[in-house]
Amino acid sequence: MDKILIKGGKPLNGNVKVSGAKNAALPIIAACLLTGGSHQLQNVPLLRDIDTIKRIMSKLGVTFRDEKGTLEVNSDDLQGHEAPYDLVKTMRASILLLGPLLARYGSAKISLPGGCAIGARPINLHLKSLASMGVDIYLDHGYVNASVGQLKGADIFFDVATVTGTENIMMAAVTARGKTVLKNTAKEPEIRDLADMLRSMGADIEGDGTDTIIIRGVEDLRPARHTIIPDRIEAGTFMIAAAMTGGHVTVEGCRPEHQEALMEKLEAAGANIKVKEDSVLVRGPDTIESVDLKTMPFPGFPTDLQAQFMALMCIAKGWSMIRETVFENRFIHVSELRRMGADIEINGNQALVRGKDRLFSAPVMATDLRASASLVLAGLVAEGGRTEVQRIYHLDRGYEALEKKFKNLGANIWREKE
Ligand code: EPZ
Repeated sequence: MDKILIKGGKPLNGNVKVSGAKNAALPIIAACLLTGGSHQLQNVPLLRDIDTIKRIMSKLGVTFRDEKGTLEVNSDDLQGHEAPYDLVKTMRASILLLGPLLARYGSAKISLPGGCAIGARPINLHLKSLASMGVDIYLDHGYVNASVGQLKGADIFFDVATVTGTENIMMAAVTARGKTVLKNTAKEPEIRDLADMLRSMGADIEGDGTDTIIIRGVEDLRPARHTIIPDRIEAGTFMIAAAMTGGHVTVEGCRPEHQEALMEKLEAAGANIKVKEDSVLVRGPDTIESVDLKTMPFPGFPTDLQAQFMALMCIAKGWSMIRETVFENRFIHVSELRRMGADIEINGNQALVRGKDRLFSAPVMATDLRASASLVLAGLVAEGGRTEVQRIYHLDRGYEALEKKFKNLGANIWREKE
């Protein structure tokens, strides 16, 4: 297992280019199951999670070809319909194969994803919605066994605005018989990117990005060419790093309209932000002001940036109340930040962060993807030696060569094999 080492204290300066969005690429690659032929995807990030979904889909007979930044996906010869536990347990998002397999193949056997570090992560809304479209589902020995003759359109209301739940049903509905109306849908940019891909394939979808999506089933789909949107969570992580280190960083190739909640909080914390068409310049303040925060579904402050923003608040002036409203256990990074000298008190889904003048280097353990990013950020400002972030396979799931990008911005950071 690799580890990342950081000698903190250097302000970050320069330009960094954002990679493609993990959480757009995963459903879009899954959507290639919906029809045969060769899809051409660009700006697909080089991440462990992308490798995982490619491995699972290859077992189903899908072929992948990487050609100079274009990922060609061909599912002409679909053979299987099972996503095995040993792969699904490493990436919950494998549940995104359920909708497309049912649409294309009429059956699917997907390991129940189970929980993860940040919460129970149920899929009841995925299953309930598919059942309303005529799918027979039974759970057996940890697997979801699903089959259907012909998917039929349905009126579906999501009790909770679920991102992958919305995506799964969108993919199941595009060739269902009749109209599907989805209400209380997630509005994340990744949903819109999937809808754009599905429309390129010939689907009839409207309302994506709002809380009501209407899909009219079509007979056939065709292979498509699509460019994945930039990763707003990676972009936000660099913006927070600039504010934290008192640096001056231009985050290039991002969508500023995806970052409004974060930019508002960074400005409140004292950062100076300049927005251009596809880049954001962040200049860190001399003194970081404490800011209260509540995570919400898009367009609210993203839960996937909560841990990173908490690292910033650890060295702010004053106290910050951070409320995590999306997942029930997303404060695992707190115990590791405390080991670096942070003063954080947890009370249920709220964390009270008392800002300190400094953090101190320490060996720390990554536990989930975004928690590990917050530890790297803390290491960038920690004093007194080297911070060692262990088990960074968590980090590699969602960040493409993070330490190289930080090194190019002037950080004293490197990776070692453990
Ligand atoms: C997606 O997860 C993202 N993953 C997560 O990013 C992100 O944190 C999350 O959305 C919220 O934005 C991908 O897109 C691959 P949800 P997802 O269903 O879809 C409850 C990262 O770091 N719920 O929107 O699994 C659930 O418990 C990852 O990149 C049900 O109750 O999240 C949660 O409280 C972490 N029943 C809430 O909805 C269901 O059937 C939102 O979860 C489904 C969800």
